[in-house]
Amino acid sequence: MAYNELRMDNHWLPFTPNRTFGEDPRVFVAADGMHFTTHDGRQVIDGISSLWCVGAGHNRKPINEAIKKQLDTLDYGTAFNVSNDKAFRAAELIAALCPGDLNKVLFCNSGSEAADTSMKVALAYHRARGEGHRNVFIGRERGYHGVGFGGMSVGGIPANRKVFGTALLPRVDHLRFIHDPVNHAYIHHQEPVWGEDILTELEQRILPLHDPSNVAAVIVEPVAGSAGWYIPPQGYLKRLREICDKHGILLIFDEVITGFGRLGTPFAADYYGVVPDMLNFAKCVTNGVIPMGGVVCRQHIYDAMMGAHGSAPQHAIEFFHGYTYSGHPVACAAAIATIELYQQENLFERAGAMGQVLGDAMHSLCKGLPNVVSIRTLGLAGAVELAPIAGMPGKRAFDVFMDCYHHGVLVRAAGDNLVFCPPYIVERAHIETMVGVLADAIRRHA
Ligand SMILES: Cc1ncc(COP(=O)(O)O)c(C=O)c1O
Repeated sequence: MAYNELRMDNHWLPFTPNRTFGEDPRVFVAADGMHFTTHDGRQVIDGISSLWCVGAGHNRKPINEAIKKQLDTLDYGTAFNVSNDKAFRAAELIAALCPGDLNKVLFCNSGSEAADTSMKVALAYHRARGEGHRNVFIGRERGYHGVGFGGMSVGGIPANRKVFGTALLPRVDHLRFIHDPVNHAYIHHQEPVWGEDILTELEQRILPLHDPSNVAAVIVEPVAGSAGWYIPPQGYLKRLREICDKHGILLIFDEVITGFGRLGTPFAADYYGVVPDMLNFAKCVTNGVIPMGGVVCRQHIYDAMMGAHGSAPQHAIEFFHGYTYSGHPVACAAAIATIELYQQENLFERAGAMGQVLGDAMHSLCKGLPNVVSIRTLGLAGAVELAPIAGMPGKRAFDVFMDCYHHGVLVRAAGDNLVFCPPYIVERAHIETMVGVLADAIRRHA
């Protein structure tokens, strides 16, 4: 029996309008494959992989069994000064999936922790090489790197920053956003070709302002996810890599959303053919069932951090950072089973193939509907952007989200975007239902 005492007395919901939630609660009590069961016994399609996490679909037995087995074997063991066998194996599998010499995995528990971890590695790395003055970070407008103070500072979604003013890190700048709503409103699995090089600003304004020798790292999402699936201009990430290399600046890809198959490749780094110095991951690594995040570093970062302590006594810790639950054995068991499942079922390739189907459906069913101003699809994800209601940004999309929910489809409202990013097991019929329901809801809220 579902617990139906859904009062708001004790539960404060994250990133959710709490004052109205109780009037129309949206509560899941079970999930299987592509569907949730709600507290009132309805079926809802998970059109967003439960916020980009559940690549293999819900209730996957190999993952569940691995977790149960791990609980009966080694439930937990501290991560400091000792470790566990599953953490070694999970690190090995993750490193093997990464391009280039991204091969040292620092585990944490979320994307936010991954952002802050990568920023701390950047500072420690430069200091280890005698360049401790490199402490400027560059993010991007409308970027999202979680809710810690580091990630929030380099993030660029205004609402997430607005009330935290003075607590944001001081030496941070932002690249301009990567969307051209006039020339590239509709993107279907293409790389938009811009008439200008939008990274000229980095070279000619931002870096000279801070002096490149003071810049520790640039951090970007390869595809801007949380803002609403915005796709970088052709050649953008390669050019960013070149600029960073030229000035000794580390490049961090936040692949929390794009990692583990969303674009049909293991990482966006593979899709775009660009190897960053650090790669942050979280969602999809355990299929969402147990929290886990991490930062994969290139060999030269690890070497610098170890080499700097060459004269230190052998018992000295090289990097004063880590979390109580870093490399938790149950999370690592889930990650191992998840990665094996992705590989056994060729789910990354499937994500790439079904992405075309999703993109076709979104463009053919939603283009031309009232208030639709942009549709962008790439990999197994796509966004339909609506014109905002004057003075009420986000309201139209939120209303459409609610409407879809009541018609059995979970879509993500991000600002005035409605985003789909279903599990990789999605079938054509699910896509037709999801996008059909979205199109009807958009019409109803015209
Ligand atoms: C790119 C990116 N980085 C970081 C995060 C934060 O992850 P978490 O919510 O696990 O802290 C997210 C979450 O959506 C994300 O999309």
